[in-house]
Amino acid sequence: MYINLPSNNHYRRPASYASKGYHSRRMAVDFAVPLITNVKNAKLLAEALVRKLPLDVSNVDAKSSHLTHTFPGLINIGAFVPGLSVPGSQDLITSTAANLSGGFNTVIFSPVGVNGGIVDRQSLEQARSNVSGHGHCSYAFTICATAANVGLMDDELQAEVKALFVPTSTPLSVIASHFSAWSSEKVILTDAKGSALASILLLASLHGRTVHVSDVRTLEDLLLISLSKAKHLKVTCDVSVYSLFFTAEQFPGVQVLPTAEVQKVLWQQLDVIDAFSVGANPYLLASTLGKPASVCSGVEETLPLLLTAVSEQKLTLDDVRRRMYDNPMKIFSISDQHVTSIEVVIGRRVKYNVHPSCWSPVLQVSGETHRVVVHGQTAFLDGSLFSIQNGRDISGSVIAHAVPATTNKDDHATLPPIMSLVAQPGTPHDQYDLASHVLHIQPHPAFHRRHILSVKQFSQKDIYDLFAIANEMRFQVEKNGGVDILKGKVLCTIFYEPSTRTSSSFDAAMKRCGGQVVQIAAETSSVQKGETLEDTIRTLACYGDAVVIRHPAVGSAQEAAKCSPIPVINAGDGIGEHPTQALLDVYTIRSELGTVNGRTITLLGDLKNGRTVHSLVSLLCLYSVRLNFVAPSLLAMPSNVVSAARKAGIPVTICESLDEVLADTDVLYVTRVQKERFQSEAEWLLVKDAYRINHAVLSRAKEDMIVMHPLPRVNGEFERVCLKSFI
Ligand code: NCD
Repeated sequence: MYINLPSNNHYRRPASYASKGYHSRRMAVDFAVPLITNVKNAKLLAEALVRKLPLDVSNVDAKSSHLTHTFPGLINIGAFVPGLSVPGSQDLITSTAANLSGGFNTVIFSPVGVNGGIVDRQSLEQARSNVSGHGHCSYAFTICATAANVGLMDDELQAEVKALFVPTSTPLSVIASHFSAWSSEKVILTDAKGSALASILLLASLHGRTVHVSDVRTLEDLLLISLSKAKHLKVTCDVSVYSLFFTAEQFPGVQVLPTAEVQKVLWQQLDVIDAFSVGANPYLLASTLGKPASVCSGVEETLPLLLTAVSEQKLTLDDVRRRMYDNPMKIFSISDQHVTSIEVVIGRRVKYNVHPSCWSPVLQVSGETHRVVVHGQTAFLDGSLFSIQNGRDISGSVIAHAVPATTNKDDHATLPPIMSLVAQPGTPHDQYDLASHVLHIQPHPAFHRRHILSVKQFSQKDIYDLFAIANEMRFQVEKNGGVDILKGKVLCTIFYEPSTRTSSSFDAAMKRCGGQVVQIAAETSSVQKGETLEDTIRTLACYGDAVVIRHPAVGSAQEAAKCSPIPVINAGDGIGEHPTQALLDVYTIRSELGTVNGRTITLLGDLKNGRTVHSLVSLLCLYSVRLNFVAPSLLAMPSNVVSAARKAGIPVTICESLDEVLADTDVLYVTRVQKERFQSEAEWLLVKDAYRINHAVLSRAKEDMIVMHPLPRVNGEFERVCLKSFI
């Protein structure tokens, strides 16, 4: 039994999470030594020991009469926001808060509000600025098709929204023009009913377009959609959750609900229905009845209503997941949310607590949202919201994904650990000595025998796994100087460009893992005699198990990989990429600041030629960050890097003056102006001293901002500023 209480010092830098206390607690977990980390529990145990109470400990922590289940972050595919594009409206922010509390991690806003909607760039910008920087969950905008805006839907505007919404009243000729102009990558939505829906489905089939029909509530529409699906047209549909639980007979005179008879068929035909939505119906029902209605109407009761149906065995948990996560993710090309989860309770009958701003017909439910975890942090727990408002706009991202991975808590638990410390047989725990233990690394599909050419080849999960290993390695090196997992392996490194850090870090890493290194300097090798890259790589592959290459030509590592039978690691290809530096940079940000998500990162200097920043931006696209690119126009970030970041939904600010963005910056990443990449010295002289980081600059920054540089620093980027550490 081990009692160790973690320090509660909030002011300590998160980098120190790997404290001695942490390691000893970690050891207890790894070696299944019972561990107490809570002072109250420790006191209770001590008291029990003193009083000689029986200490039979069950391996069940808690028992309850209800079921709990973990969903991935659910998606609200049609949130109705009355004040969507009204200047100064708080509706969008409130909607993201209600959605997060309701178990939705992503919300797609309907483009129709009460006083105007999103129909052009101006209204889109207004809506964006209404929520920007204050969203509680991820969100995306859609745009409404009108007769007037056919010509306005240029590529840029289309890239900035998730979908085109065609309202039921739109004339057929207008719909046809929108169908021709709209990007084939993005879905078209409609709430059309009856013959209008038939016409849209016909147009969709003629144009080969994907159409999603929202708020299906008549038998004719359901039949039409089911026939279209049978003919393999690209049609999907959703039903408002209110339509499944309330009927027109219950609320006479209300237009937004189906009759009891239709509702019965909706339940019977659930396999035609791809998604469940909230939509505008809850708001319209409340306002038609003269009851309080708000942007929160219907949002928080949707999941409890569905869970009630689960507890009554009308639905399964899988039905809910498929229609509120898997299918919405595919329909709207939304990325997998493996770091976000919703824990729900099923079968506990509770009085429904209506949101104070609205009326609800729901009185009692048999299920509720218990906890929402966003990026590993609890954002909502038992009715209280703790979100840090770093929800980002994902309108621009288009993610083509394979079958979504389960994010069930249990599944995480059964994932194979990629590395574990295993005691050698016969070593008793009390003689624990790290040096006498073997480090086992299980092959990871993203890294094992793979070329490492670009950061774009990694998913966020890969990075997460890699950093877990990096943490362990760091601990091993600090403790024992190294491990011998690469004993008998040889790494060849060939540098056609100068290097200190990158070459020596590969060298040292290989040696600390027990391997050997063969270093070839291009200037003293057969390269000088004119040997081709292909021949050099093929030769090295005869001697080594992997090869590291740095070369001045963009794409050289890819070329080397094509002819190499052993893995090639890109240590910098001209102004292209520098993947390993970027991985280290993200690891450093994470270690220094505790988390990358929610941070504002400013890249400064030679963003045109700096390969480290190109890779870093690609990697940061996997996180929820804001990016500022500060450079003179001559050295601006390449447009493909900027547009990839924007496409990933990252808010990007481009400017020439650091002062414009310094105050909000959490990480200032400074780069060298790369003299060797300039056509003429005169051009270099123009920009070489573009930025200076000195105490005056730092005094205008946040107190806890960190400054990073991939090094070398040679142009005096830092003026009398002492760097704390060189990594
Ligand atoms: C950089 C590089 O070579 O790309 N440094 C590094 O590898 N750590 C940065 C530079 O040369 O300015």
